[in-house]
Amino acid sequence: MPRVLDPELKRALAERIRYYNELGIYDFYRREDQVSALTLTNLTSIEPAASSAAHESPSQQREQMIDRRSAVGIAATPDENMFEVLSTKPEYGVDDPARALKIIREDLGDCTRCVLHKQGRKQIVFGVGNQQADLMFIGEAPGADEDQQGEPFVGRAGQLLNNMIKAMGLRREDVYIANIIKCRPPGNRTPEREECETCSPFLMRQIAAIKPKVIVALGAVAAKTLLAINASMAELRGRWYDFKPSGVRSNDPSWTSAKLAVTYHPAFLLRDPRQKKEAWKDLQMAMKELALSVSKKGSA
Ligand code: URA
Repeated sequence: MPRVLDPELKRALAERIRYYNELGIYDFYRREDQVSALTLTNLTSIEPAASSAAHESPSQQREQMIDRRSAVGIAATPDENMFEVLSTKPEYGVDDPARALKIIREDLGDCTRCVLHKQGRKQIVFGVGNQQADLMFIGEAPGADEDQQGEPFVGRAGQLLNNMIKAMGLRREDVYIANIIKCRPPGNRTPEREECETCSPFLMRQIAAIKPKVIVALGAVAAKTLLAINASMAELRGRWYDFKPSGVRSNDPSWTSAKLAVTYHPAFLLRDPRQKKEAWKDLQMAMKELALSVSKKGSA
């Protein structure tokens, strides 16, 4: 039976699970006798199956983790739905990314998990491209054209993204393209935090199925949601983050994380083309990481 938890407790619990995930611990057990009595001060009834930091108090562990994270640029990722985290995903054990993605799409169904389903969306925009791509681009949300066609980045911003991909020496069909949220917000407004949190677990599962080497977050909404960092684009760009999709793990033990870089959203570049030079630097960083030839001049 579904359990209803106080949102504050749910958030704190998800935070603890995310913290253990960051330590490389994914398996948990619940002390059944305490589950019904969970409170904010009693989070220890969710235990890691084995903790290398068992001798440290939770607050010591947390402080050290924050230090480590800022020192090495490890990304925290939000996932407040800890029962999703704890439950087994139906695609676990499915090695073929295409099949895993199909399962995730089926699980998403005709989604009504957030308000966007009743605010004029025509269809869910799941993602498109090479299901075994080394490179993934993640944007914010579908716009009108994407909502019409059911595919991310097909409007004007999409044309520019295509040019950016081409400038990297790749074709659109070589990469995988998705968004933080899968339904068009009315009037193309910025997605609400709750919408991002409700929808992004599906994106995390898509990432774990595709297992990209590199993720490029397009714009501030994508970057801040994926990294759970509230920072300016100037602070976010120009470095690598070690990105582990939160709440999920890949079937492939050799893949635990992707390298994530942040660049400007193509829609922003359409408004301020002078920043294309900066975006090209970000893409070159990604090209180097993917061992693509960086001698080409950017033509986006
Ligand atoms: N902007 C986005 O962030 N995503 C799209 O799919 C289209 C425009």
